[in-house]
Amino acid sequence: MKKTVYVGMSADIIHPGHLNIIKEASRLGVVTVGVLTDEAIASYKRLPYLDFEQRRMIVENLKGVEKVIPQTTLDYVPNLELEKPDFVVHGDDWKEGVQKETRQRVVDTISKWGGKVVDIPYTKGISSTRLNEKVKSIGTTPEIRMKRLRRLIQAKPIVRILESHSGLTGLIAENAKINVNGKDIEFDGMWSSSLTDSTSKGKPDIEAVDTTTRMHGLNDTFECTTKPVIYDGDTGGKVEHFVFTVRTLERHGVSAIVIEDKTGLKKNSLFGTEVPQVQDSIDSFCAKIRAGKMAQVTADFMVIARIESLILGKTVDDALERADAYVKAGADGVMIHSKEKSGMDIKEFCKRFRKVDPNTPIVVVPSTFNHIPESEFEEWGVNVVIYANHMLRAAYPAMLNVAKSILLNGRSYEANDQCMPIKEILELIPGTK
Ligand code: SPV
Ligand code: MG
Repeated sequence: MKKTVYVGMSADIIHPGHLNIIKEASRLGVVTVGVLTDEAIASYKRLPYLDFEQRRMIVENLKGVEKVIPQTTLDYVPNLELEKPDFVVHGDDWKEGVQKETRQRVVDTISKWGGKVVDIPYTKGISSTRLNEKVKSIGTTPEIRMKRLRRLIQAKPIVRILESHSGLTGLIAENAKINVNGKDIEFDGMWSSSLTDSTSKGKPDIEAVDTTTRMHGLNDTFECTTKPVIYDGDTGGKVEHFVFTVRTLERHGVSAIVIEDKTGLKKNSLFGTEVPQVQDSIDSFCAKIRAGKMAQVTADFMVIARIESLILGKTVDDALERADAYVKAGADGVMIHSKEKSGMDIKEFCKRFRKVDPNTPIVVVPSTFNHIPESEFEEWGVNVVIYANHMLRAAYPAMLNVAKSILLNGRSYEANDQCMPIKEILELIPGTK
């Protein structure tokens, strides 16, 4: 019987190094490629450019590939147990660094049936990292950007979103990255916040900055980023206006609008009951959701219903009743908000909602209950965590301090340490030189 060979790959950008591995593998026997799913890839780095079906199609058509199966985890073991291959072929780069452990698990598993690992010398002169940078510089289209939020919610236990109110904050959300134990950790997308969009214009957060103006601002973020955007749509305004907002956002490649179930003059939620705020009726808000869903052109855009019951001093029961009605009206997700510090009201909502609705995405905005880590939100069944105002809150005190230091000293010398060196700001944006 012919020997069998297993090769695992992401196959987002196929280069000669991959083809060489498949060629060498096919010399050993019949090749099965395990294409990593979005979920498997997102567990350690950025979501791939191409979706799973596109990547599967490419690999199926490569010379020397007999069969393609999904590899749903970074760990090879489940597929190896299934396929029991005689060989696993991989580039020899996995003998060092963080992939060493993965390789060892493969060796241990396949040796049970006499299988062997074959390490192919790494193809020199090709760097996936550099190719990835190229992909980034190609940019994105509204359509690709819009679809990305649904893909991320599918692929990741928690989708992490950072507020952006400018090109510069967009660049932070796009590029800020740390590496912990071989895994890249970064933000998945941007929140276009009504609070920070208004505040950065010197206006109160009362829907005084109109949609057209906010879209102009958001365009700066779009210009220099590729990640998806969730738009804070306040109350959504009048139904007759909301349908236009949905179309405008969708056309520009925004992935989702969040609308809150308040009516009349909207005030920021974090005031809670300190200011008069009126919750909309369930019927009226459902009609708005339905109109928004009818207005969208694609199947990808999301309308997320934000429940203000806890903000307005009402019960978790009330919030759950509304969540159920809003989902039935067509909402693609629910945002549950609170200004309570403990987060326990949010926890109760999430746990109870998940019992009756295992799938509809839950979004939270931990501004006051921010001691709770993402891992705990994941346990509660939350899908999206939004850091809703932090870039502006970080910037303002820093700017004010420098301004005061200049006033105090009659020169800027004393503020040097609080400012970015001139050389660094000149080099911050590529192409400035
Ligand atoms: C915003 O960022 O504008 C929000 C979240 O709507 S909150 O400020 O908490 O209401
Ligand atoms: Mg807001």
